[in-house]
Amino acid sequence: MGSVDDWITEFFIRKGRLFGRVLQAYRERGVKEAHLIAMLLEKHGVPRGSRIIELGCGSGRISVPLAREGYKVTCLDISSEYVEEALEYAQNMGVKERVEGVVGDAWKVDELVEGGYSAALMVWTTLIGYKGSPETDIELLSRIRKIIVPGGKLFILRHTDRDTIVARNAQCRMDTIASDLGDLFVIEKPRFDPVTSILENTWTYYKKKGDELEFLGKQGFKIRIYTVTELIDIASKAGWKLEALYGGLNQDPFIPGRTSINAVLVAD
Ligand SMILES: C[S@@+](CC[C@H](N)C(=O)[O-])C[C@H]1O[C@@H](n2cnc3c(N)ncnc32)[C@H](O)[C@@H]1O
Repeated sequence: MGSVDDWITEFFIRKGRLFGRVLQAYRERGVKEAHLIAMLLEKHGVPRGSRIIELGCGSGRISVPLAREGYKVTCLDISSEYVEEALEYAQNMGVKERVEGVVGDAWKVDELVEGGYSAALMVWTTLIGYKGSPETDIELLSRIRKIIVPGGKLFILRHTDRDTIVARNAQCRMDTIASDLGDLFVIEKPRFDPVTSILENTWTYYKKKGDELEFLGKQGFKIRIYTVTELIDIASKAGWKLEALYGGLNQDPFIPGRTSINAVLVAD
């Protein structure tokens, strides 16, 4: 039996190229999202020019456009390939000097970077829940707390809400989801266990070749999903206090069962 987070190595490193294609396909969307995030950062006292860190930054979909918005960004990810791609993206966008790449495990972030950041970000159901228990998430958020200045902020953005997963799935049964991403086609088969709150998902990747689909590979993840109440409780045990809660990056209201969780927390 492997450890609970073996899927992380499998999904993002061993078979990381598969998910890397999705990250690439969402790059354009990342520019728009980063602009909304910059407005959110400004609103919550993190002005352009501030030093911020994105944990689980992937190939820089958000970090690099944030650097273009004027932030000094550390882009940390467990995948060296994604970080390399992020640095290449930064170079191409002319913001190389404002992006620092760090390869490593976010659970050791306080050992990997110097600290003194004005804010930390996690975007798109990233890291929280990946190791399967509230204890591991308290540990993660406590480590992050150590690298943030007093009064600094933590942005947990576009994070999956348990209520939304449950509401979407009468009797906790989920439909297959198909995503058409340019020359890529991805089929998702999610399953949610209401007892453990674990969301398992299998992604199958195909490359479009005219009317044909060429099989590229298959991979799966297994993450713990929280209600907003549970998430805020976990964050408070790690020294974070809720400052604001939204339903989207555009600052729409949070609606349990309908929106994602977009939480702004302050170092308590
Ligand atoms: C869902 S992706 C989100 C990527 C990015 N935030 C975005 O919005 O494009 C999650 C990212 O977390 C990274 N990751 C997973 N486990 C990690 C860990 N223990 N430490 C650092 N990064 C990790 C993955 O490699 C992946 O890039």
